[in-house]
Amino acid sequence: MKSAYFLVAFALLAFASSFVSAYDPSPLQDFCVAINDTKNGVFVNGKFCKDPKHVVAQDFFFSGFDKPGNTSNALGSAVTPASVEQLLGLNTLGVSLARVDYAPKGGLNPPHTHPRGTEILLVQEGTLYVGFVSSDSDGNRFFTKVLNKGDIFVFPIGMIHFQLNIGETPAVAIAAFSSQNPGTIVIANAVFGSNPRINPDVLTKAFMLDKNVIKYLQSHF
Ligand SMILES: *[C@@H]1O[C@H](CO)[C@@H](O)[C@H](O)[C@H]1NC(C)=O
Ligand SMILES: *[C@@H]1O[C@H](CO)[C@@H](O)[C@H](O)[C@H]1NC(C)=O
Repeated sequence: MKSAYFLVAFALLAFASSFVSAYDPSPLQDFCVAINDTKNGVFVNGKFCKDPKHVVAQDFFFSGFDKPGNTSNALGSAVTPASVEQLLGLNTLGVSLARVDYAPKGGLNPPHTHPRGTEILLVQEGTLYVGFVSSDSDGNRFFTKVLNKGDIFVFPIGMIHFQLNIGETPAVAIAAFSSQNPGTIVIANAVFGSNPRINPDVLTKAFMLDKNVIKYLQSHF
């Protein structure tokens, strides 16, 4: 009898935990168009909501993904985001997009992670070498593919990932995110380019490199 109760309790707990793991809150209303004011201290899902009476079609509109980003930079890539900062109507809705351009022969969207969103990437033009690395508990496995026009790859939330143009022509991809504000942490910028800098002793030990190499890397970010 006791074990039957235990089983029922266990089943209920397992059932309940499937709700507990859903951390993205419901919008609670049809929409919550952000007002562009970060000076005040109160936020709903990151932004104030505009009075619904004043919401217009323009709040749900963004234009510009027809234009290539400028890839004349050290990495040879450019991200054009359409997240809640650019498209205020996305607030609370849990989706956003980005256009990513890659220069021919080596344009790189460097190793980075989106702390708040899974990414699904569609290649529109070109050939990309992409991949992500799973967490320590999964053995830091590297999942990688070469993608061509029309191919799609998923980068699960929080995983460190990258895309490299290995083709002779410019590449273009559209990324969709399961967040209106997925966030981006570029690993090299965060580790070697933080403000202020991390004490080199920490990075020397963490990366098992000579301190001069760490200082060199820090001076380059
Ligand atoms: C692209 O960026 C480079 C470097 O910042 C700049 O010199 C160039 O004028 C830009 N090109 C366009 C078309 O904006
Ligand atoms: C929001 O405000 C910032 C800073 O004032 C501005 O750069 C940005 O273009 C604004 N975004 C929209 C969608 O109005």
